[in-house]
Amino acid sequence: MMDKRRIAIDGPSGAGKSTIAKGLAAALKIDYIDTGAMYRAVGYKMIREKIGLEDREALKAMLADTKIDFSAGNILLDGEVINDRIRTPEISKMASDCSALPEVREKLVLLQREMGQAKSVVMDGRDIGTNVLTDAEYKFFLTASLEERARRRWLELQEKGTPQALADVEADMAARDYNDSHRPLNPLRKAEDAIEVDSTDMNAEEVMAYIMNLMK
Ligand code: DC
Repeated sequence: MMDKRRIAIDGPSGAGKSTIAKGLAAALKIDYIDTGAMYRAVGYKMIREKIGLEDREALKAMLADTKIDFSAGNILLDGEVINDRIRTPEISKMASDCSALPEVREKLVLLQREMGQAKSVVMDGRDIGTNVLTDAEYKFFLTASLEERARRRWLELQEKGTPQALADVEADMAARDYNDSHRPLNPLRKAEDAIEVDSTDMNAEEVMAYIMNLMK
């Protein structure tokens, strides 16, 4: 039997976490768990059901009646594939906001721990190395300059046919970074035993090769 390998990848938005995590999962033939997508799913459902950030009782009831799963590269919210619907600037903002709420974190962290318990996984997010899988065999903290991360997201939005001004993308990203690293509960932070990788001047293949090499 192959040893269990859990790989935690944390870092700010636009650092390339999901590209690298997906690549590693494919190369190692293990599951990829995108924890950001789980916060996005909750944010999406809150908007759809018109539950405000202060409406904690409604939020609790909603969470108790919410199922989030991954299957064949898709994210499922209550059985429905929501992949593309959670990648909008509106949902990005709501995901960041709702991720500060204890009710939301409690539910999703529990679910993530379960997902990482029994098998090898690559999990990316903000608090995987510091909180969700503190005993992961490998921990990486992936960063890049704000300018470069904004440029990548700006390109992505253009390719998707939903262009936005670069200055707006950069301002949104800076606000979200601030939010994610200053909330009291499990903020974005490099775990002491994580290896920091700065991808500002590297493309995805170079980062993959670099990380695979570190793992050896
Ligand atoms: O990685 P992402 O941009 O899809 O994440 C969306 C939001 O979810 C992000 O702003 C912060 C939050 N998040 C979190 O608090 N903890 C995680 N492990 C992953 C994401």
